[in-house]
Amino acid sequence: MRKKLPKHIGIIMDGNGRWAKRRGLPRVFGHKEGVKAVKRIVSYAAERGIKYLSLFAFSTENWNRPKDEVSALMKLLNEYLQKEINELIEKGVSLRVSGRVDMLPDETRQKLLDAIELSKNNNKLVLNLCLSYGGRSEIIDAAKNAAMDVASGKLTLEDFESKFDNYLYNPDIPDIDLLIRTSGEQRISNFMLYRIAYSELYFTQTLWPGFYEDELDLAIDEYQTRQRRFGKTDEQVKGN
Ligand code: FPP
Repeated sequence: MRKKLPKHIGIIMDGNGRWAKRRGLPRVFGHKEGVKAVKRIVSYAAERGIKYLSLFAFSTENWNRPKDEVSALMKLLNEYLQKEINELIEKGVSLRVSGRVDMLPDETRQKLLDAIELSKNNNKLVLNLCLSYGGRSEIIDAAKNAAMDVASGKLTLEDFESKFDNYLYNPDIPDIDLLIRTSGEQRISNFMLYRIAYSELYFTQTLWPGFYEDELDLAIDEYQTRQRRFGKTDEQVKGN
């Protein structure tokens, strides 16, 4: 029997700073190597038939990092969007963003919106960049918008729960099946809180710049050994 691939993979790309520190280099070198890892993993995910990939590239809390590091990350992001957009389109990737985009510098936001528009008809892989992203902010933003729709009569309280995910940042992106975190930390750090309710978790000691295609294969292999029950019993899942 062919094993089921995760439809949506989320990655908390951690360990860029430590990767650089171990080599006696400034943190930004780790981020630069991190971008190379992003490129190879996006290509490989598309090749393997993954349909959705969400990458935690910048959190709402990351705004509190030293100013120089924040600007270096925004610069890397601008370069990535500028240099990679054609290749992303060639590979059939459709770009999305999740997060409080209005907080991004104008240039970055514009480049992002242009790249999203240019790639919107692609359907091999949806690449969801989580930028200025916080899982609690996403839920709060969704709850506010849903509450306003209740107040204006567009949404009923009876439908609130079943329709709630329509108010998340990208409503058509499904829940995360497999969540990967690099660098040995075992926590969620406010990533996609609503979408990870039933995700399988995969933690690795590998620092993000050292994450290669073979490790994505390992994570998918591990995922395929897991039995997903979504609250049901083993017997129900096996159809007995
Ligand atoms: C975590 O490592 C990584 C980040 C906060 C940024 C992730 C960004 C990239 C991989 C590059 C930009 C992305 C794109 C899509 C172009 P850390 O700095 O927290 O590492 P540490 O925990 O070792 O200090």
